[in-house]
Amino acid sequence: MNILIVGASGGIGYGFVEILLQDPAIDRVYGTYRRWESAQDLLNLASRYPQRLVCLSMDITQESDLVVALETISHQTRELDLVVNCIGILHRVGLQPEKSLRQINSDRLIEYFQVNSIGAVLLAKHLLPFFSSPRRHVFATISAKLGSIGDNYLGGWYGYRASKAALNMLMRTVAIEYSRKSPQTIVVICDWNIPPGIPGDYGCSCTFVRKCLDRFADFAVHVGIIGIFCWFRNSYHSLR
Ligand SMILES: NC(=O)c1ccc[n+]([C@@H]2O[C@H](COP(=O)([O-])OP(=O)(O)OC[C@H]3O[C@@H](n4cnc5c(N)ncnc54)[C@H](OP(=O)(O)O)[C@@H]3O)[C@@H](O)[C@H]2O)c1
Repeated sequence: MNILIVGASGGIGYGFVEILLQDPAIDRVYGTYRRWESAQDLLNLASRYPQRLVCLSMDITQESDLVVALETISHQTRELDLVVNCIGILHRVGLQPEKSLRQINSDRLIEYFQVNSIGAVLLAKHLLPFFSSPRRHVFATISAKLGSIGDNYLGGWYGYRASKAALNMLMRTVAIEYSRKSPQTIVVICDWNIPPGIPGDYGCSCTFVRKCLDRFADFAVHVGIIGIFCWFRNSYHSLR
């Protein structure tokens, strides 16, 4: 199996990579990162697994970066069994979630959409050739409960909420097009929410991700989302 984790330097993405590398059934994991400075753990992991972890630099807001990264992968494999897009932005220096309309700024709103929404649909566009075999493929993107329109009782965080809501609609639309062009591919929107009973360690260690996968599997079924977490639980039961 060949797996691509997009945003593998982040907490959740890195957790997935660590888990996947423990499974000998997985031939190779491709992990993307944007900033070298925040990718040190990932790059160190790659030096421990030189044959099985390939790190690729990519800024999701640059379509050309994406094309180059996927072209590099295509030299080694023509198929990806699973792609999980873990890229997202909530805050950085100079970008904080808006507490009120006074803080709305169009450039910052655009940045939320570029990273949280548009990146995923660009991935869907360029990944299609990797999902062409009759085998089952999974293309998953992590969204957020904050992207739920029905669940928005508190307000605020305009850019993050709106960009995740847009992501959900984009992925729903991708699923419809994929059902015609690559019907064996499952398109998944995961809501990543810390389930009750999990300590608030957002550093997402391997153990933390595993615990979340356990809890989420049932949650995902309950709310009717085809959960990547179910997929993980079924496929990686032996890991736990
Ligand atoms: N953690 C939570 O509790 C939580 C809850 C709900 C939803 N989510 C969602 O889950 C996903 C992963 O969250 P996380 O906690 O792992 O976040 P994280 O630790 O902040 O990681 C985010 C990743 O996205 C990358 N990234 C940001 N902007 C990028 C760009 N322009 N191009 C390429 N990569 C970019 C980051 O790379 P750099 O380090 O180089 O910036 C990093 O690898 C996100 O979509 C987030 O919205 C998380």
